[in-house]
Parts: sequence; C-alpha cells; structure tokens
Amino acid sequence: MNPAQRAVLFAAAADARDRAYAPYSRFAVGAAILTASGEVYTGCNVESASYPLVCCAERVAIYKAISDGHRSIVAVVVVTDTSPPAAPCGGCRQVIHEFGADAVVICANPAGDMRDSTMAELLPMGFGRADLPDRA
Ligand code: THU
Repeated sequence: MNPAQRAVLFAAAADARDRAYAPYSRFAVGAAILTASGEVYTGCNVESASYPLVCCAERVAIYKAISDGHRSIVAVVVVTDTSPPAAPCGGCRQVIHEFGADAVVICANPAGDMRDSTMAELLPMGFGRADLPDRA
C-alpha cells in the first residue's frame, strides 16, 4: 500500500465512522479495506436492540467486498476516537485472517494517529483453511 492509498483508506474509514449505528455502546467505529485489485470498501459498526446481533465495522467492510466477488485483502484501516487507537476485536482478526493473512492493519483515530501492525502480530497462529483436513 502506497502513501496515497493510505490517505484514501484513512479518509474513507473516518467518513464511514460518521455513519456508525451505535446508539447502545455510543462507540463509533469506521473501517476501510483495500482489496488486492485496488478497490476500497468501507464499513461502520451496526448495533441492534438485540445486543448480540451487532456487526463490527471491519466485518461490514469485508462482507461488502466478499459479496462483490473480492477474495483478497491487503490493508485494513480502523478508526476509533480513542488514544491510542483501538485495535480490531478478536473475531474481526479471525475474519481478516481468512481473506488477508498478510494484510497490514492500521489502527487510527480522527486526530491522525496511526499504528501499523501485521496480521501475524495481531493473530499469531490464526486458524485457517489449511487447518481443515481436505479443504486447504
Ligand atoms: N466494534 C467494532 O466495530 N470493531 C471492533 O473491532 C471492536 C468493536 C464495535 C462493536 C460495538 O458496536 C462497539 O464497537 C462497542 O463494542
């Protein structure tokens, strides 16, 4: 990912965060992902009065990309209004791993603080297709 793509992803994730539906937690999250073919997909967290049905911002973005036919993620930007910026939850790390085991994950906040991590750092020994007999 080049600096221009990083700037585009950050702006897209911050913009998506403004559309978060988080009336229960009041914790707005925005995400943007870059696919291997160069498309950008965004997501925000979507909560429900039935609390467990929440979908995290990262998963919304990833599911949008997958449903459009993309299968490979090279970068993820997550924006939260926290300092330091918050990292993706464990469930989202597993979903990122499914489609981007080598992706860079950038945790950011609206002030522009950014922290880069690799998926190997965020999810060591992640479970994947190769762990399922006969499905690798
Ligand atoms: N949330 C995300 O959108 N992504 C994460 O990685 C962590 C948590 C959302 C879920 C919920 O709407 C709110 O943040 C508080 O947990």
